[in-house]
Amino acid sequence: MNFDTRMVPSVKSALHNFIVVVKDEDKIIGYVYSNISPKEAYSNAFATFFDLSSVNRENVGCLSQFYIKEEYRQYGVGSKLFHMSMEWLQQFDEVDDYFIYVSNGNNDALEFYKRKGFSVSHEILDGFITVLRKSR
Ligand SMILES: CC(C)(COP(=O)(O)OP(=O)(O)OC[C@H]1O[C@@H](n2cnc3c(N)ncnc32)[C@H](O)[C@@H]1OP(=O)(O)O)[C@@H](O)C(=O)NCCC(=O)NCCS
Repeated sequence: MNFDTRMVPSVKSALHNFIVVVKDEDKIIGYVYSNISPKEAYSNAFATFFDLSSVNRENVGCLSQFYIKEEYRQYGVGSKLFHMSMEWLQQFDEVDDYFIYVSNGNNDALEFYKRKGFSVSHEILDGFITVLRKSR
């Protein structure tokens, strides 16, 4: 997974994209990327990310990528970006379902999202990815 295989296809298949970049003066120290996409974007040759029939609406929201440089963690920056993303996602009235995908073993992120109201839905790719989900 790299910029060309993950970010570019994701931005292209999405209907709306939202990226927030955080800087400490001139230095970039983190970012969050969220999007609104047709639910069909989550069923492809690579994987079926969730049961499409469990989503009533045409489009879904996703907090897709999230990273804060290690030395800047635990100061509330991630929480701020998380809330900015949720506010952005929730302005789309036609979307009721939000997803986050967490790699197996990334318990810190998993617990972070759970404390913020997301629940584990299921695992995909032989348990390599945990799917977290939240309804409007
Ligand atoms: C997940 C991630 C983005 C969170 O960013 P962050 O800036 O550390 O997030 P916050 O500081 O807002 O919150 C982290 C924890 O620190 C706590 N915290 C926030 N401010 C704090 C402070 N001033 N003092 C002590 N703890 C604090 C928060 O309560 C939170 O704890 P919680 O998880 O129990 O709620 C960051 O850990 C990261 O980049 N991880 C690596 C990449 C990754 O896993 N991304 C997710 C992929 S799905």
